[in-house]
Amino acid sequence: MSALRALVFALHVFFVLALCPHTPRATFFFCPPPPPPSSPTNTFVVYVQATFANGTNNFTAFPVAGINGKEFSVTQFGTFYVDDDYITATASPTSAMLGRSQGTITVTGLVGGRLQVSLTLVFTSGLYNGSTLVLLGSANPIPQVAQVAVVGGTNNFTFATGFAELQPLNGVALNQVIKTTVTYKI
Ligand SMILES: *[C@@H]1O[C@H](CO)[C@@H](O)[C@H](O)[C@H]1NC(C)=O
Ligand SMILES: *[C@@H]1O[C@H](CO)[C@@H](O)[C@H](O)[C@H]1NC(C)=O
Ligand SMILES: *[C@@H]1O[C@H](CO)[C@@H](O)[C@H](O)[C@H]1NC(C)=O
Ligand SMILES: *[C@@H]1O[C@H](CO)[C@@H](O)[C@H](O)[C@H]1NC(C)=O
Repeated sequence: MSALRALVFALHVFFVLALCPHTPRATFFFCPPPPPPSSPTNTFVVYVQATFANGTNNFTAFPVAGINGKEFSVTQFGTFYVDDDYITATASPTSAMLGRSQGTITVTGLVGGRLQVSLTLVFTSGLYNGSTLVLLGSANPIPQVAQVAVVGGTNNFTFATGFAELQPLNGVALNQVIKTTVTYKI
């Protein structure tokens, strides 16, 4: 009798575990609800037009601080830029204006000029008008391609996570068009 009960119990547990694949802690009486399906991955491309200050008066990225006695430049450790770049729909600087890329870029590589990027894409036109997307991460020195994290956003990008690929199109230059490919999930 008790052996039979034990067998029935063991079979019950076995079937519940077999039929409830979503959790390692299947209950004995019902399958817990499965986790919500994750959203599909979305991708879009925008272009950030950045002019690093040096001799131009139409700058969008300006070095506000750096090491005393050293030049302030995108390759000098310690240089701290504040950015208010344009976001455009295509690589052409005269294409549709979608918003601004605002934040800071810090040269954090003692050698090699790696950059810490902390930028918010602020959309004021187009599909994502009224939304922001926050990018954070360590970028290779220009002109290499870099990946940084999408750490969040607002409105269309609330709860977004993913990454952005930053591809400078102008080689080593102070006037940059950065192809920005954003891949995210909500
Ligand atoms: C800023 O000026 C430079 C040189 O005068 C020019 O090459 C560049 O296209 C300008 N950048 C923007 C964003 O207007
Ligand atoms: C910026 O200009 C200053 C002097 O005007 C110069 O010393 C410095 O090397 C320049 N930086 C870059 C990145 O060209
Ligand atoms: C973007 O959204 C704002 C606020 O809703 C609106 O006032 C503005 O007209 C929109 N701009 C464009 C270009 O659609
Ligand atoms: C962005 O959000 C607005 C309103 O919240 C919505 O109408 C629009 O369809 C969304 N756009 C995209 C591309 O998801």
